[in-house]
Amino acid sequence: MRLAVFVLASALSAFALDNGLMKTPPMGWLAWERFRCDIDCENDPKNCISENLFIDMADRLSEDGWRELGYVYVNIDDCWSSMKRDKDGRLQADPKRFPGGIHKLARYMHDRGLKLGIYGDMGTHTCGGYPGTPLDKIELDAQTFADWEVDMFKYDGCYSNATEQEKGYPLMAKALNATGRPIGYSCSWPAYQGGLPPKVNYTQLGEICNLWRNYGDIQDSWDSVLNIADWFFENQDVLVPAAGPGRWNDPDMLIIGDFGLSMDQSRAQMALWAIMAAPLFMSNDLRTISSGARAILQNKMIISINQDALGIQGRRIVKEKSGIEVFLRPLSNNASALVFFSRRHDMPYRYQTTLSKLNYTTGRYKIIDVYTDKATELKDSTSFVVSVNPTGVVMWYVSAPADLSLHYFYRGGKPLGSAYHDDDNAVPRVFL
Ligand code: GLA
Repeated sequence: MRLAVFVLASALSAFALDNGLMKTPPMGWLAWERFRCDIDCENDPKNCISENLFIDMADRLSEDGWRELGYVYVNIDDCWSSMKRDKDGRLQADPKRFPGGIHKLARYMHDRGLKLGIYGDMGTHTCGGYPGTPLDKIELDAQTFADWEVDMFKYDGCYSNATEQEKGYPLMAKALNATGRPIGYSCSWPAYQGGLPPKVNYTQLGEICNLWRNYGDIQDSWDSVLNIADWFFENQDVLVPAAGPGRWNDPDMLIIGDFGLSMDQSRAQMALWAIMAAPLFMSNDLRTISSGARAILQNKMIISINQDALGIQGRRIVKEKSGIEVFLRPLSNNASALVFFSRRHDMPYRYQTTLSKLNYTTGRYKIIDVYTDKATELKDSTSFVVSVNPTGVVMWYVSAPADLSLHYFYRGGKPLGSAYHDDDNAVPRVFL
């Protein structure tokens, strides 16, 4: 009987992707949000989807300090291919815009310690109307990508139905695995199923995909960032357990360095994406990015929070009527990250709380403000104030608690009792 159950269970249990990749959220650059489907290379040679664009970004990643911080993927999105497959039925890059071909581009990346990602779609066509990879083309196209030495594949879902998706997404995982080349696999499947159970099976996704798009496309606006963040935190009870090393929820690209976000909003996107253990794919123009945006994207402490080895996705833990929200992500070594976020539109808000109100246990904590680098110490019971800008954040790295020092009281040599040394006073600590 037991054997029968076991055999049945293994027959039913889906195939598992086994590429060993993306134990921490993948980082890099992705063309879509910033460059879309610009194929007008005659009039817009700098910005059109062509090998030159990816070469330019690869040069910036490797020469401007990005690669060393972990930004290694250079990902092509839609509109890269020719409208026709070649004579053997294989996908091929548009010959005018990618005269060297994809394999050469992959080599260019590899020579610089970078990786190349590519895009396809489970339907008859990609969302942009280019040839798709429907069920009968899955094995062929997976092999083509492997032959080109591609390192990551995003499988979109336009022009496919639920039945095809149910077959196609696991089949692609199997086909990628069968090539023997480790290829990171990004599935848009849940975004096409509404992102939530019972339609979405996050256990299965974690077994077949390294990351998945749960929700709609990001646009270059604060509204869009807020809408996405709200959806992810409203559904955190479903999404948090789905994430872990090798399997990540993907709230879509970072738009820091583009046109839509203020500096405070840029710091907010970076902070919230780090709390969410989100993949960090920038979609911006690294050739012209401002030093302010670059500093946010290259913030080492935030990146190390995002890349924490435990891979636990963080949560929203407080939602105040005042419009202040607090987010917490547990980190390795008993540390944690805290984000204080303001939805307000008036002026910096002075939010007063204590670590114990945020569920921290008794102890003394070292705090580092990750955007100002200021360090301080706080007891769990000490009242403090953070000043949070409108649509901005304050983000802290909170180290493991140190024991509070006990003070002993004696009278006539006899112990009377003990109490925690209390350096508190009535005035809250202020962080500005
Ligand atoms: C969909 C995806 C986007 C992008 C476009 C390309 O909308 O969600 O991320 O890949 O298709 O056409």
